[in-house]
Amino acid sequence: MNIEIKKADDDDRIGLRAILRTSFDTLSSLDTLELDCYINGQQSPCQWFVARSSQGHVIGCINASTRSNEGYINSLSVIEGHRGHGIGSMLVQEACEFLKTNDCNSVFLYVRPTNEGAQVFYEKLGFINCGLTKSHTLEDVVMLRKMI
Ligand SMILES: CC(C)(COP(=O)(O)OP(=O)(O)OC[C@H]1O[C@@H](n2cnc3c(N)ncnc32)[C@H](O)[C@@H]1OP(=O)(O)O)[C@@H](O)C(=O)NCCC(=O)NCCS
Repeated sequence: MNIEIKKADDDDRIGLRAILRTSFDTLSSLDTLELDCYINGQQSPCQWFVARSSQGHVIGCINASTRSNEGYINSLSVIEGHRGHGIGSMLVQEACEFLKTNDCNSVFLYVRPTNEGAQVFYEKLGFINCGLTKSHTLEDVVMLRKMI
């Protein structure tokens, strides 16, 4: 499988919207304008990365952002049918490289407690489970952290 991991550009926007709508129930009902606000409105500096298939389809995405010297990743998804081939790992690695070059020495992320598969995935990549905390919407979330 020939997969390209790259910074998202305007050509990826339609594919990025589609994968976000499909993967995250909180984004599924947003119209194009609202979804573009979500995509554009991430903390700065931030960067979206996508995985593209050899046919040029967006099959995965991740967002990396920084706050002081802390890095954050969110909105990681690989579409069903392409999972289990290392694409999620490559996206996380690319996001961590971006954070390192933006002076971050640690990266944080939040996962719903029910998303046990994602927690196993991140722990395999060296993230440490720091336990439950509250999201900005006061939802229970599991925080994971890794030094980079
Ligand atoms: C989580 C996700 C991104 C993983 O992507 P992926 O491309 O399948 O992951 P990889 O192929 O790189 O997997 C790396 C390792 O994690 C393991 N893994 C991946 N998903 C897993 C799951 N759901 N349960 C258990 N292990 C999992 C793989 O088996 C692999 O293990 P190995 O190195 O021993 O072979 C993908 O399942 C997904 O998009 N899920 C839905 C969205 C989501 O939950 N995102 C995270 C929100 S915070």
